Amino acid sequence: MVLYFSATGNTEYVAKKIAKMTGDEALDLLKRIKEKDYSPIRSRKPFVICSPIYVCEMPGFFVAFIRKLTLKGNRRVYFVTTSGGYAGMSGVTAKKIAKKKGMIFMGHKDIKMPPNYPVSKRYKLLSPAECVKRLRAAAKEIRTVAALIKRGEPVRDRHVFLFEKLIIIPFNPVWVRLKHSTKQFSVTDDCIGCGKCAARCPLGRITMVDRKPAWKGICAHCMACIANCPVEAIEYAHVKKGVEKYRIGKYLRKK
Ligand SMILES: Cc1cc2nc3c(=O)[nH]c(=O)nc-3n(C[C@H](O)[C@H](O)[C@H](O)COP(=O)(O)O)c2cc1C
Repeated sequence: MVLYFSATGNTEYVAKKIAKMTGDEALDLLKRIKEKDYSPIRSRKPFVICSPIYVCEMPGFFVAFIRKLTLKGNRRVYFVTTSGGYAGMSGVTAKKIAKKKGMIFMGHKDIKMPPNYPVSKRYKLLSPAECVKRLRAAAKEIRTVAALIKRGEPVRDRHVFLFEKLIIIPFNPVWVRLKHSTKQFSVTDDCIGCGKCAARCPLGRITMVDRKPAWKGICAHCMACIANCPVEAIEYAHVKKGVEKYRIGKYLRKK
């Protein structure tokens, strides 16, 4: 069983491809995450847990959810992450989760996908042509990983050095606390009150007030609300209407 969370589509794309190539099924965890539903998931095939990378790690809410989730049946587990190119500590965390769950860790692999975070001025989005190129390269990586999973062989990612752990362990929670405020989210008059943003928020930080979204607290900055708004009515600081927002669907051929 391939389990995934995805905000802007990259991880969903990878998870569904792996499921198809391994003859397995893919399960979107969003509803379970929102409802804190940890009831057992059973699989005859090895579990493949897929997550995006936020701030050099799998998102805190995702790690907390997977830790509590009961996985029954097959005891082997793979982790596949998607990132803009740097998956930081995620492989180390994945191994720890597998151990804690008493499962056999079959390895972690990060797939380099187009970045999806327009809020960051440092890590800019790619141009459409670059996105297409990167997705083509990713397709090759996905095939390789899926073939290994299908054969029941381990997957490997690069070694995580001690100095990376020493930086990321304190950096990640501080960065999230300081930078992932929801204060700068706003909505324009274009909003049609469809509530898609609230439905897509994994942390339930959006409530609909008078048919308009209202944000509260610190969120994951996953970009699900901004990227999936059908009328581009959600803004964040400089990410205004007309500023490019990443969503994988723009670059996939319609079937
Ligand atoms: C808040 C945030 C932080 C991110 N941090 C990183 C990072 O540390 N390293 C990296 O390579 N990509 C980073 N990214 C890019 C995403 O990991 C990448 O685009 C991922 O494939 C998105 O997956 P999704 O479309 O399934 O949500 C970040 C994206 C967001 C929204």
